[in-house]
Amino acid sequence: MNLELTEEHLAVRDAARDFAQNVLKPGVIERDEKQQFPTEEIKQLGELGFLGMMVDPKYGGGGMDTVSYVLAMEEISKVDASCSVVMSVNNSLYCWGIEKYGTEEQKQKYLVPCATGQKIGAFCLSEPEAGSDATSQQTTAIDKGDYYLLNGTKNWITNGGSASYYIVIAQTDREKGHRGINAFIVEQDFEGFTVGAKENKLGIRASDTHTLLFNDVKVPKENRIGEDGFGFKFAMQILSGGRIGIASQALGIASGAMELAIAYSKEREAFGKPISQHQAIAFKLADMATEIEAARLLCLKAAWLKDNKQNFDKEGAMAKVFASKVAMWVTTEAVQVHGGYGFVKEYHVERLMRDAKITQIYEGTSEIQKIVISRAVLKD
Ligand code: CAA
Repeated sequence: MNLELTEEHLAVRDAARDFAQNVLKPGVIERDEKQQFPTEEIKQLGELGFLGMMVDPKYGGGGMDTVSYVLAMEEISKVDASCSVVMSVNNSLYCWGIEKYGTEEQKQKYLVPCATGQKIGAFCLSEPEAGSDATSQQTTAIDKGDYYLLNGTKNWITNGGSASYYIVIAQTDREKGHRGINAFIVEQDFEGFTVGAKENKLGIRASDTHTLLFNDVKVPKENRIGEDGFGFKFAMQILSGGRIGIASQALGIASGAMELAIAYSKEREAFGKPISQHQAIAFKLADMATEIEAARLLCLKAAWLKDNKQNFDKEGAMAKVFASKVAMWVTTEAVQVHGGYGFVKEYHVERLMRDAKITQIYEGTSEIQKIVISRAVLKD
């Protein structure tokens, strides 16, 4: 068993860390406050190869492994979780889905521009009444011969207003249950497609989360992903991979908050010494470090399984449920370590605490992860 990272892994981690600290950090508070999408920063992330990290170089990607992706996600998320969710959705939910199951034509047309970061993609599954219960899709795609007619509404869509291409999950035959669901690629300028309201969120405020409306959108037949009826399994598999990304995001939010708490506790003095020298604080930091290391190992294990072509559904779900709980706990404690300063924006930890919450909700709530894990352990 070798837990050592390779030189390539360390180089990716260091490049992501430099970018996060030097490019993302300066404007992160303002972007959060103004809910301003990080357009320029995402462009630069793309130029550095962080938007198509695991995509084969022949499609413009970085050809890296999932372990590298976890390391990069942690570093970006330490500083700016709004940026890292854009990165996660583009890498895991969009690029991976098309690379794994798309046709060669789909890859050339829809993967290459997003893997190279010239454009970004989105993944549309959730609906007003179908978030966790993913089989209850109300969006319909009716087969009209050489196209599908798409109608419905999607909610909570990350990159909703800024994506050029959208993977949309829709019901094509209600009678067939989950086997009557398909996935389609929709372009932003397809007639009948409208980007609706932007959500005003508690956290990851600089990412753009929108409602999307589809009104008699004609989707060419060749834009369906996979065989007829494959859409539900496609979505489940892609979300399973996506959970490693969100687990790593949660890990980064937690480790970013811990680093801030450590630095502050060494500077701030009370009762004649730095507060880090008081056990009440030192033990908190010890607990944070332990929980974070456990979350990191779960993320890396899930990534390693994926890289080695083994089933990672259970481990990805474990990583997500655990890392997101750790993120919520660590960020709350990091605010506590900072005392009153933790409650003001300049110190960054209050934002990390707000950002942490979504990691327990999106790409499957913690309760959904426990369904996945419990089914796996009961089957074992
Ligand atoms: N890979 C491949 N196939 C899978 C699978 C997987 N990971 N999980 C399930 N399947 C297959 C099953 O084998 C089954 O196929 P068969 O009938 O042929 O055997 C089929 O899919 C149906 O599976 P289930 O009976 O297990 O389905 P279910 O209705 O009980 O649902 C669930 C299972 C785990 C609860 C699922 O609905 C789920 O994961 N829900 C959460 C969805 C989710 O994550 N939503 C978040 C939205 S996306 C988002 O947040 C993105 C963003 O913008 C950040």
